[in-house]
Amino acid sequence: MVQIRGGFPDTRLRRNRCDDWTRRLVAENRLAVDDLIWPVFLREDDDPAAEIASMPGQRRLTVSEAVEAVGRAAELGIPAVCLFPKVSEPLKTPGCEEAVNPDNLICRGLRAIKQAVPTVGLVGDVALDPFNPLGHDGLLEGDRVLNDETVEILCRQALVQAEAGCDIIAPSDMMDGRIAAIRRALDGAGLEDTRICSYAAKYASAFYGPFRDAIGSSGALRGDKKTYQMDPANAEEALHEVALDLAEGADMVMVKPGLPYLDIIRRVKDRFAVPTFAYQVSGEYAMIRAAALNGWLDGERAMMESLIAFKRAGADAVLTYFAVEAAERLRKG
Ligand code: PBG
Repeated sequence: MVQIRGGFPDTRLRRNRCDDWTRRLVAENRLAVDDLIWPVFLREDDDPAAEIASMPGQRRLTVSEAVEAVGRAAELGIPAVCLFPKVSEPLKTPGCEEAVNPDNLICRGLRAIKQAVPTVGLVGDVALDPFNPLGHDGLLEGDRVLNDETVEILCRQALVQAEAGCDIIAPSDMMDGRIAAIRRALDGAGLEDTRICSYAAKYASAFYGPFRDAIGSSGALRGDKKTYQMDPANAEEALHEVALDLAEGADMVMVKPGLPYLDIIRRVKDRFAVPTFAYQVSGEYAMIRAAALNGWLDGERAMMESLIAFKRAGADAVLTYFAVEAAERLRKG
């Protein structure tokens, strides 16, 4: 508990707010470019669909455009980027074979960026939804998303990505037991330094809508993801998920979405004191962007306020589509 020493009129909290310089001195949290991870969408060279209607300001990039864009992000000091592929329709199959093709879009992106911009950390999303004609993160039997069979293919997906240059494997699928299995697969291939960032507390959220447009899976998604992603009503269960993933060997854990789940970030950080990332997801980006484009709020201020909220809640890093803009804003001071 905070000890209250005295009170008004001896104590006036507004004194420390009087001037910019005192406000800076007493600021409890700071956002740095070192806290930002930029999610990047990849498209094939012959796919003309660069624009993402529900995410104004974000584009799907070809591998060579991504190499350039990540180079600029690196110059701004952004430590890491995360790649998501828009897979062309004919390559989507019920067995999700393309996910384990060492020459798939994400692996080509990883290799090209690693070679051109070796100082940037590469995060690879591991899940089957970009490769699955029905948009689910796992293999299906009828309407059932299979757990153990999915974990097997996720291990192979993690391996092809790690071998292509991925530094952090980020399983976003929410299958049970995948962290331990992926850890063993990586170690078995001599990749013991490849990190795992577990999407440990990932909720079945409406805020992923624009992302599913971006990777071209929204029209396809049959049903919802409630049999594997978490119920937004639950918090204790998030702690259970995090405990298991840490025990299985996760190096960092993630909470997703971001702003509606700041309580979860704080509880995870307080309980486990491990590297904790937040994902400010596509719908959160879209809300701020859309309101700003309508002139309904100051987009830049709303962006910076939303990002400092993650730091206040205890996040070490934030995956955000605002990464480049926020880095530019931070550089201006
Ligand atoms: C899927 C995945 C999703 C996101 C990241 N990985 C969507 C989903 O679970 O349907 C969402 C990211 C965002 O909304 O920005 N494995």
